[in-house]
Amino acid sequence: MKRLSGILVVNHFLNTVKYQELYEKFLDAAKEYSIDLVMKTNADLLMDMEALKENAGKVDFVLFWDKDIRLAQLMESFGYRLFNNSKAVEICDDKSYTYLKLLEAGISMPKTIFSPKTFGTVKYAKTDFVAQLEQQLDYPMVVKECYGSFGMQVYLVKNRKELLAKLEETAPEPLIFQEFIEESAGRDVRIQVIGDEVVASMYRYSDSEDFRANLSIGGKMKAYTPSQEEMDIAVACCKAIGLDFAGVDLLFGKDGKVLVCEVNSNAHFKNIYDCTKVNAASLILEHIKNRLAKEQ
Ligand SMILES: Nc1ncnc2c1ncn2[C@@H]1O[C@H](COP(=O)(O)OP(=O)(O)O)[C@@H](O)[C@H]1O
Ligand SMILES: [Mg+2]
Repeated sequence: MKRLSGILVVNHFLNTVKYQELYEKFLDAAKEYSIDLVMKTNADLLMDMEALKENAGKVDFVLFWDKDIRLAQLMESFGYRLFNNSKAVEICDDKSYTYLKLLEAGISMPKTIFSPKTFGTVKYAKTDFVAQLEQQLDYPMVVKECYGSFGMQVYLVKNRKELLAKLEETAPEPLIFQEFIEESAGRDVRIQVIGDEVVASMYRYSDSEDFRANLSIGGKMKAYTPSQEEMDIAVACCKAIGLDFAGVDLLFGKDGKVLVCEVNSNAHFKNIYDCTKVNAASLILEHIKNRLAKEQ
């Protein structure tokens, strides 16, 4: 078989050690599989549109490790084969779109209500809708910015005063309001799926008062053996969204009910590697290679 070539697309502005480590893992894995993988940033590619168009037929695939959806769509329109595809990245990037997709697929998530759209010029000039929201969701209530990662844009509000302050602070960012799953306070499960298969899982827990289990904000991790139901749900999320690979976060609902918290198209895999020694970068490239071979 001919040697495969691909472009690893990363974000121009995210180049801290934490990100560099992931990029290196992909480049190392490419060597392992004899794939010519070249790293490019979204800025490099966008600023040379001519070359972007011309080179479309010259690589076999794009490992799209960015969330620049406009670039992803542009590349697909030029004929590049993206992993993950632009639609799947877009759905995961916005927690309200993820909710919609999973709802359509009949996958259980915490009860969720979308914020009414507003604009930077007016913000929430009227907050009368809050009374109706309170009839559907109790305090404490989870408020999430639709675009956010590492738990940084996820909040727990205890009363109306805190909710109004959060609205003021975040406007006009789109939000989702969500039922707080008390049984899961400070704990969740991360399941790494690649090619419709569960390859690794970890239990994340916070040993502080924080209700968020994200590792970047102090959460701890342990290896975890998921149940068949948890694995089936994680894979179903990927199928519903059209993902080749993802990190699916699950919550522990009442009476053992499994609820999906969110789905990450570009899940950082360093922690799951440290926890389980499963190298997602390598498995992602293996999946791409197998997938392309099947398509020929
Ligand atoms: N509805 C909820 N009830 C209880 N805990 C939640 C809920 N939603 C999120 N969490 C906690 O907050 C963390 C961050 O939320 P998540 O939606 O995964 O956002 P992020 O994209 O920032 O990781 C989760 O890993 C989980 O521990
Ligand atoms: Mg998460």
